[in-house]
Amino acid sequence: MKMWAGRFQSETNALVNDFNASIHFDQRLYPYDIQGSIAHSQMLQKQGILSEEDQKQIEQGLLEILDEIQEGKIEFTSEYEDIHMCIEQLLTEKIGAAGKRLHTARSRNDQVALDMRLFVKDHIQKIQSQIIVLSQELLSLAKSNLTTIMPGYTHLQRAQPITFAHTIMAYAQMLRRDLIRLSNTYSLMNESPLGSGALATTTYPIDRFYSAAFLGFDKPTSNSIDGVSDRDYCLELLSDLSILMMHLSRFSEEIIAWCSWEFKFIELDDAYATGSSIMPQKKNPDICELVRGKTGRVYGDMMALFTTLKGLPLAYNKDMQEDKESVFDAIDTVEMCLSVLPKMCQTMTLYTNTMYQAAKKGFLNATDCADYLTKKGLPFRDAYKITGQIVAFCNEKGASLDELSLQTLKEFHPLFEEDVFEAIDLLNCVKQRNVYGGPSPEQVEIQIEEITRFLAKM
Ligand code: ARG
Repeated sequence: MKMWAGRFQSETNALVNDFNASIHFDQRLYPYDIQGSIAHSQMLQKQGILSEEDQKQIEQGLLEILDEIQEGKIEFTSEYEDIHMCIEQLLTEKIGAAGKRLHTARSRNDQVALDMRLFVKDHIQKIQSQIIVLSQELLSLAKSNLTTIMPGYTHLQRAQPITFAHTIMAYAQMLRRDLIRLSNTYSLMNESPLGSGALATTTYPIDRFYSAAFLGFDKPTSNSIDGVSDRDYCLELLSDLSILMMHLSRFSEEIIAWCSWEFKFIELDDAYATGSSIMPQKKNPDICELVRGKTGRVYGDMMALFTTLKGLPLAYNKDMQEDKESVFDAIDTVEMCLSVLPKMCQTMTLYTNTMYQAAKKGFLNATDCADYLTKKGLPFRDAYKITGQIVAFCNEKGASLDELSLQTLKEFHPLFEEDVFEAIDLLNCVKQRNVYGGPSPEQVEIQIEEITRFLAKM
């Protein structure tokens, strides 16, 4: 018999029962549901709505159910419909009449809204700690590659020399923003919907501030209708996670390129790569491809929930049950990606000489050559034009800038002196970009310090 069966004359159709049920996915909310019910019962007792004896039995019973679920002793069937009614029913079977008093002054609408918030708050913190682990991995890669020269690209064309450390720190900056975004989402959602009831609170003298504080919320939500129907925090989480996945996907794309024979800047450890069933020589960066691929899936979760919510009138509508699978899937996907990436980064081999050789081809120091002439007094536009002519000349000869003799350079402009070779040396090109945020080892060290301090405060 359904808990809500009072006004019904015939039984629920079996298909409708399955269709309506959410227990096959919302069962994972059980620890939060139990935590919320304990808070609710304590508040009811404090307000004189529930006797001390009943509250004790309820709390004891709920803790036993928690153990039983953790030990795999409970079979979740669609007869229960959802995790909320399941736990309430198990409680009543266990302790009798007191169990039936738990739902006083509460609705499943504020109950599910609370459970979801507790779940999301927990996972925001878990994801943040995973991002910190990945950030630390990036920091250590950066620290040991402050002078590892590599080509910097724009349009995927070789542009200017940078270091591997500077590149890696660009990703550390993205992760820093991801951490802040998640903290913002957390602080905005940190209000308890418990006590909103179905939509209009209750006639009992409940204390919403007490249960909110008990559960670690800043305060109760200020409008009971909004309290049960707000899923903004789910959307915010999904958009935070979409942006995070976009970052992980760009990083993955970069690694995929770097692993290719065309680049060969890095090689993944055997434990973090996969082979081919037919081509014996293959070593594929599947992990990165999956991270890139799963990004689309998280975007899909976000769009699905935006679309579900857009036409809903106030307050609770059953459509809202659909929030769970989107949020769960996105969280599971992100947590999985974040669990595998740090070790993959830690174990990869860097081919720093290949990076250096790549930086030597493609006239990455052409800007520095133009800057050299400019510093000697030539207007930049003229220096730019002359350097362009030198590049064209080199292209014809198959040479690089530093392979030309001073005499040849002087034919292009008399301002060239012996010190030009120092100015266009790749490491010097990087060191000379000693501007805040720039690639010089000194500046990247400042970045590393900033991020280290930021992570320590998280
Ligand atoms: N399983 C439901 C959900 O996830 C719980 C709330 C049901 N409320 C209701 N009025 N039918 O949304």
